[in-house]
Amino acid sequence: MRGIDRRDFLHRTLGSALALPTAAPLLSLAGCDTDSAAGTEGFASSVAYQRRTFDGAGPVREIEIEASEGTVEVAPGRSFKTWLYNGLYPGPEIRLTAGDVLRATVRNALPEGTTIHWHGVPVPNAMDGVPGLTQEPIATSESFVYEFPATPAGSYMYHSHVGLQIDRGLIAPLIIEEKQPHVDYDRDYTVVLDDFLPGAPEPLEGGGMMGGGMMGRRRGGMMAGQVPPYESMLVNGRLPEAPVEFAARRGERVRLRLLNPSGATTFHFAIAGHRLLVTHTDGRPVEPFAVDSLYVSMGERYDVVVEANNPGVWNVMAAVVEGDTPPARAVLRYADARGATPPLEAVPEGLSRGRVLELADLRGLGVPDRGQPDQTFDLVLSGGMMSSAWTINGQAYPDAEPLEIAEGQLVRFNMVNRSPMIHPMHLHGHFFRVADVLKETVLVPPHMGRVSFDFVADNPGRWFFHCHNIYHLEQGMAREVRYV
Ligand code: C2O
Ligand code: CU
Repeated sequence: MRGIDRRDFLHRTLGSALALPTAAPLLSLAGCDTDSAAGTEGFASSVAYQRRTFDGAGPVREIEIEASEGTVEVAPGRSFKTWLYNGLYPGPEIRLTAGDVLRATVRNALPEGTTIHWHGVPVPNAMDGVPGLTQEPIATSESFVYEFPATPAGSYMYHSHVGLQIDRGLIAPLIIEEKQPHVDYDRDYTVVLDDFLPGAPEPLEGGGMMGGGMMGRRRGGMMAGQVPPYESMLVNGRLPEAPVEFAARRGERVRLRLLNPSGATTFHFAIAGHRLLVTHTDGRPVEPFAVDSLYVSMGERYDVVVEANNPGVWNVMAAVVEGDTPPARAVLRYADARGATPPLEAVPEGLSRGRVLELADLRGLGVPDRGQPDQTFDLVLSGGMMSSAWTINGQAYPDAEPLEIAEGQLVRFNMVNRSPMIHPMHLHGHFFRVADVLKETVLVPPHMGRVSFDFVADNPGRWFFHCHNIYHLEQGMAREVRYV
């Protein structure tokens, strides 16, 4: 899908899915003391569990991560120099079991300061990796030890939280396995969707009205905003012409953990010849729901189970929603399938028709009961027109007031997007309830899209709340949420 069609499509699906009424989902404090059903780890039990067990529940898993310059190959003969974790892009997958304690010693061999943020995990505040809020950047040649309980289970990511370093390649998967998954599967693959910027990332300076070069793209008379000059899109660090292959046998159930740690790309994901059974969003379990495609924005994760019931060799594709870069591509290959890799033109039918996931389709497991908020914030997301700033209620971080809350409160954020671009809004340190699921990153659609969420203030500290488009974050779309 291209141009106006794709945009209308996005509108129709995302708009209706996410433009939630202001009479928003509720959540009760009482519900938060109740244990959720066995085998699931909902908001209530997991957050309480985290706090009860911080002094060490499971075995300590020690790892070492070095951030350094290096060279990676994104296709045979296509190497480029960038910044890497342990020489790898994406960085090394950390795989733990719920309840383990992760102790990660991070050494900085880069020419500038860095940090690691454990995206989605409700860690103690001091371990959150946000420069200026929870720690100073780790200086060149210095180390920092992060230690926190790996809970709750889920598909997460870790990445640098300094400047635009995410678009240097400082991204990686963090998987915390369930002790008892609520769905059966035979294979488990991590699918990292990313945008590929061969050079050093630069802030996007101009306003959206300037046009030209790496400036905004005009569609149907409306500005769609600025996108960085990405050269291509990648799955697990591979260009579409040299795709990674996921193997399956007929009759198997294949779990795919879709992660989007990209700098500025919302993906529309589908697999040719197969439906997707959505089982988790942002690591939290949901009642399985079948669709043909789904959107995954920056910072979001979806786990899906694919029933391998259509032997062959199939394209697994993630189209770009904002910008004109061709889709990322991997391949699903059945054992014994003779076929060659499909051409790039064999776009999955789910990208142009069929059922697209809407957030309202999902029912989370272990989601607490509803309640009245103790405090509500109305937050207007703006930018992309006349200036380079991206703002929340007119303020551009760091020149922005903290949102002051108090421990034990039920807090509601009502967001409205008065801009032409998607904003995936991410809250550190907490899961929130949006529609009937728990998440910590949620796509707020452009052109007056509205989304509300509720969370319980049960993890005191100085927490970041921001757009996960790193160019928007860098130009101010962030606030501190404070209760210390
Ligand atoms: Cu994925 Cu503030 O981060
Ligand atoms: Cu944004």
